[in-house]
Amino acid sequence: MEYVKLGATEIMASVAGLGCGGSSRLGKSTGRSQSQSIDLVKQSLDLGVNFFDTARVYGTEEIVGLALKGEPRDSVIVSTKSLVNRDGQVVSGHEIISNLEKSLKSLRMDYVDIFHLHAVLAEDYARVKEELVPFLLRAREDGKIRHLGITESPPFDAKHTMLVEAFENDFPFEVIMVGFHLMHQNARSSVFPVTLRERIGTLIMFAVRSIFSNMEYLNSTLQDLCQDGLLPSSYSDVTALEQLLVKTGGAETIIDAAYRFARHESGADVVLLGTGSREHMEANINSILRGPLDPEVLSVLCRDLAHLEGIGLDLPQTNQTKK
Ligand SMILES: NC(=O)c1ccc[n+]([C@@H]2O[C@H](COP(=O)([O-])OP(=O)(O)OC[C@H]3O[C@@H](n4cnc5c(N)ncnc54)[C@H](OP(=O)(O)O)[C@@H]3O)[C@@H](O)[C@H]2O)c1
Repeated sequence: MEYVKLGATEIMASVAGLGCGGSSRLGKSTGRSQSQSIDLVKQSLDLGVNFFDTARVYGTEEIVGLALKGEPRDSVIVSTKSLVNRDGQVVSGHEIISNLEKSLKSLRMDYVDIFHLHAVLAEDYARVKEELVPFLLRAREDGKIRHLGITESPPFDAKHTMLVEAFENDFPFEVIMVGFHLMHQNARSSVFPVTLRERIGTLIMFAVRSIFSNMEYLNSTLQDLCQDGLLPSSYSDVTALEQLLVKTGGAETIIDAAYRFARHESGADVVLLGTGSREHMEANINSILRGPLDPEVLSVLCRDLAHLEGIGLDLPQTNQTKK
């Protein structure tokens, strides 16, 4: 495993982070038992993963806590989150602290390494900063949080508007989570230059998501983009993309290429991989540890795909899971 310093924090995080949410939720969404999910977390530890991203709404904090019980606390990095908006209203600081306490209880921990405000929208940011951040700063002083983080909601904020606006004025967060993938590269121009300059740690979500793991969804998306004139006709279907990434570029699979693309982006610290399968986890960690894609293929991908924005951020069959 390789480890990276997370922004200006003292955290050395594995470049492959275990995402305990997403569509798999450690297998919770795909019928795995709690003990199978616990085993998955333990197996990731054996492979050198020390970074675990969960959230109250994922329902996986307890699994993470049980799996990490017995590990020296300072050998693992635990990141969790609280939503900030309930029924259209920004919640109170007291509610955020109550959510933090619930997370600590589920995790069976005295502190979390990173506590994020979860899926924050631009329209809520001013109140979040003014009303919620002071409570989190006090929790940090009390030792319940080591670092403050914030995550965007890619399906609702494909332009990273929340982060871009927040960066403009005294940004209090030490770590961010941002969506970035082959067909959603716009963080390169709007987010990473700032995080690199200000030494803000970055966690990459959506490197694969459904768009690169569901070939039917990818195929229909490519066809729609070609039809709409947003992609050259050489990207007409999955086979054409596979030709470029695998046959020409030497990647093992489209998924391998997608993880390597995210991992080697300048400004990407930890790439989150979400899965309920041991085989997928091992394959994905191997991908994240492989070198960058072939430079010529990479420049073609940047030339042809970098203008795309917000592609494949939603799940194909439902509009409900947007966190
Ligand atoms: N706003 C937020 O704060 C936010 C939003 C979304 C996600 N996140 C975080 O980011 C993490 C990653 O989420 P994500 O949305 O990028 O990913 P994800 O939804 O977990 O996507 C991965 C998908 O690809 C499949 N997959 C993974 N590896 C595969 C392989 N080698 N072969 C075939 N299929 C494979 C997984 O299914 P299998 O189970 O079958 O492998 C899963 O359906 C989450 O776990 C969460 O921690 C945060």
